[in-house]
Amino acid sequence: MKRVLVTGGCGFIGANLVRALRAQRPDWRVVNLDKLTYAGNLRSLAGIEEGPRYRFVRGDVSDPELVAALFAEEDFDAVLHLAAESHVDRSILGPRAFVETNVLGTLTLLEAARQAWGEDPAGRRFVHVSTDEVYGSLGPEGRFDERTPYAPRSPYSASKAGADHLARAYAHTYGLPVVVTNCSNNYGPYQFPEKLIPLVINNARRGEELPVYGDGKQVRDWLHVSDHCSALLAALERGRPGATYCIGGGSERENLALVERICELLDERLGPLPSGAPRRSLIRFVRDRPGHDRRYAIDSSLARRELGWEPEVRDLDAGLARTVDWYLANDDWLESVLDGSYADYYQRLYGERGAGRRSAPRA
Ligand code: NAD
Ligand code: TYD
Repeated sequence: MKRVLVTGGCGFIGANLVRALRAQRPDWRVVNLDKLTYAGNLRSLAGIEEGPRYRFVRGDVSDPELVAALFAEEDFDAVLHLAAESHVDRSILGPRAFVETNVLGTLTLLEAARQAWGEDPAGRRFVHVSTDEVYGSLGPEGRFDERTPYAPRSPYSASKAGADHLARAYAHTYGLPVVVTNCSNNYGPYQFPEKLIPLVINNARRGEELPVYGDGKQVRDWLHVSDHCSALLAALERGRPGATYCIGGGSERENLALVERICELLDERLGPLPSGAPRRSLIRFVRDRPGHDRRYAIDSSLARRELGWEPEVRDLDAGLARTVDWYLANDDWLESVLDGSYADYYQRLYGERGAGRRSAPRA
């Protein structure tokens, strides 16, 4: 049995990962440390029961005492570090939280792992989950890979780059068995509807305007979240200590074309708008994001070669159709996020039990 710390397990990718670990490694003990910011939603883990194989701890990854105590209590074999402030637009409005969580939080976890794992961390792994945005912006040609120089251009990507440098430094200086993954844009179930795909699904379904930044010709390389989760598991189990792996879906698309495709999928399922117009008529070109990166694309050859990883969702249109169907079928999840009631859910689920730091004892 492995004992694994997942940070940010109530976020979009973290919740998908906790679910994947429960399903694919049912004998592992998973401890989920999450602060439950606006982006953390316990409803995304509905059905995952507290017990010997799963424990939820509400807390901040930048709290050194809490993190050290957790390492002492749980004797983790591995860390999958996902907790972060993750939205570029929010980082432009207020960068400080990004440095506090993404840089200081990562430092706190690395230091706790170093102290707990001591001189002989053999067999342990610290998987630091990062983004392709640390590499900056591409022109029409070429793709990022592990040798691409860092060139972050938003407060979000700068804070992730700072965290990556610390993770790499801990591998190099202290021999901590760190594996860094840099991944392209994810999509799929349980994504907070401030990000492009769930925002467009939600607005288009309700007949509300669809904001497309600038000319809409920016390109992202979309990766289904289930494929990201399988890459993270592979990085944990087969990643070389000190290595970086770039993870991408190999599915590039211009934003405008992506938004139009989602509109078509919704028209097919729900019919046109009450006026008879197709949903693409809701598209509005709005002022561009300051410093907007033009194109991201990833060359995942190293991950394929060394980790034996392959994405399963290769057809973006099929993945989008699956995603649209999920949001339509999970209206209650989306509504709870939109009306903020998910924030009360913690109180209802854990408040009476006085849970939080010491929710479920170790088996
Ligand atoms: P998210 O914003 O959906 O979730 C982040 C989670 O972290 C939330 O549950 C939140 O409550 C938690 N959190 C935030 N600050 C915390 C703190 N100080 N202490 C403890 N928990 C805290 O993010 P996501 O999209 O799931 O991304 C997860 C990770 O993957 C991030 O590190 C992000 O940089 C990286 N990543 C995301 C994408 C993407 O497309 N979503 C792509 C590449 C890399
Ligand atoms: P986003 O989902 O915020 O991810 P990231 O900025 O990390 O790539 O945005 C994806 C792309 O969609 C990005 O080019 C910005 C653009 N975008 C819009 O055009 N309109 C929107 O309302 C949002 C949220 C994003």
